[in-house]
Amino acid sequence: MGVRDLAWRDFPGWVALYYSRYEEVRTNPDLGLYLRPLRPSVAEESALFGAVMKGIAEGDIVAVVAEEEGALAGVCTVQRKGHHLEDCHVGILAVAVRAGSRGRGLGDALLTGALERCRGVFEIVELTVVALNEGAIRLYRKHGFEISGRHPRGFKRGDRYLDDLLMWRAIEPAAAP
Ligand SMILES: CC(C)(COP(=O)(O)OP(=O)(O)OC[C@H]1O[C@@H](n2cnc3c(N)ncnc32)[C@H](O)[C@@H]1OP(=O)(O)O)[C@@H](O)C(=O)NCCC(=O)NCCS
Repeated sequence: MGVRDLAWRDFPGWVALYYSRYEEVRTNPDLGLYLRPLRPSVAEESALFGAVMKGIAEGDIVAVVAEEEGALAGVCTVQRKGHHLEDCHVGILAVAVRAGSRGRGLGDALLTGALERCRGVFEIVELTVVALNEGAIRLYRKHGFEISGRHPRGFKRGDRYLDDLLMWRAIEPAAAP
């Protein structure tokens, strides 16, 4: 299964994927994804998407997408943690596959593609995952991530608190030319 770099033409699919979180969380309160309090407008999404494309151009973001039947079905991003001398070697990973496309290997392919592109860009990749998100944790372990910590009640949905797990892995340096 192939993945490719995020491109400007992905904006409509990017917005649809983000908006679908608001639909899904109504029937799946365990959805381990963040939601802004109000669904962002298309104008706000446009600013966010532009910032991501700028980050890619500046070498601070790695972003790959997977398509299914011509539509954007999943996204994985790795964003530089900071620009200090002390934290610019760390990337923060996030991945999401649309509800109807899960369990068919897209998440697996997205992680493979994103982590390959992290070589020579980041030395460490970190992520947080809600502790009950066993499928995602299994996928991350399969890609070399280990649990390095726990943030008690780090995730709150409504009145319900869940623990977040912190996971990390090292990235091998890019091969010499
Ligand atoms: C987590 C997510 C990205 C996985 O993507 P996916 O396309 O469904 O995953 P894949 O089909 O590539 O599965 C890959 C592996 O993940 C594991 N896995 C994924 N979902 C699983 C589930 N619900 N239950 C058990 N294992 C699961 C399996 O170990 C599978 O390994 P296998 O190939 O040996 O069977 C996707 O389910 C998703 O977007 N979920 C909602 C958002 C989310 O939770 N994102 C992560 C936030 S930290």
